[in-house]
Amino acid sequence: MTNLTPHPHQIDPQARTAIKGHKPLVIWFTGLSGSGKSSIANELEQELNQQFLVHTYLLDGDNVRSGLNSDLGFSVEDRAENIRRIGEVAKMMLDAGLIVITAFISPYRQERDKVRRILPETSFCEVFVDCPLEICEQRDPKGLYAAARLGQISQFTGISAPYEPPLNPEIVIHSDHISIKEAVKQIIDFLLAKEIMQSTIH
Ligand code: ADX
Repeated sequence: MTNLTPHPHQIDPQARTAIKGHKPLVIWFTGLSGSGKSSIANELEQELNQQFLVHTYLLDGDNVRSGLNSDLGFSVEDRAENIRRIGEVAKMMLDAGLIVITAFISPYRQERDKVRRILPETSFCEVFVDCPLEICEQRDPKGLYAAARLGQISQFTGISAPYEPPLNPEIVIHSDHISIKEAVKQIIDFLLAKEIMQSTIH
């Protein structure tokens, strides 16, 4: 390496956190299609932003698979690459001091665990949106389960591709039993208990 002078970073994550008034975190939703990940993640982001004045960013299928990851499909390799890239983006946003919310099926335990390992300890909060396949299939908001049963979509998670539930998630949401608002409250209570942000009630 010639003619390169590495500059020490003057501003580190602690300095950014001090300005924001909350701790950075990656809140990683995982679960079947139709389990409610995106709905809960959206409602959670709204609550964190408006009630707690937290600087959030939501990464989900629509904004990532249509942009950064538009070259990826649903093979085992492509799903692994999808999650790897999202993990790297989340890591940068975490470093910037944000609470990053991700909502992807992320069906493979190994790929989720790899993301956990590239982040600082206690910065990864895995939220398992646990909803039985039968219920997701009944809901079928995008009609994809029906198409998968007819063989029109291959490698569809839960039908013709696996989903590996987390073994030790920080939070489990039983979205077949509780409402979106109750799910959000469950997560907010966890974040407050971990002192990620402060309660707005004084
Ligand atoms: S992941 O497996 O790579 O994490 P991701 O969350 O990005 O998946 O995208 C899942 C969304 O893509 C589903 O909610 C569904 O709308 C759509 N989709 C299209 N094909 C498939 C498929 N074969 N399996 C699962 N989801 C699919």
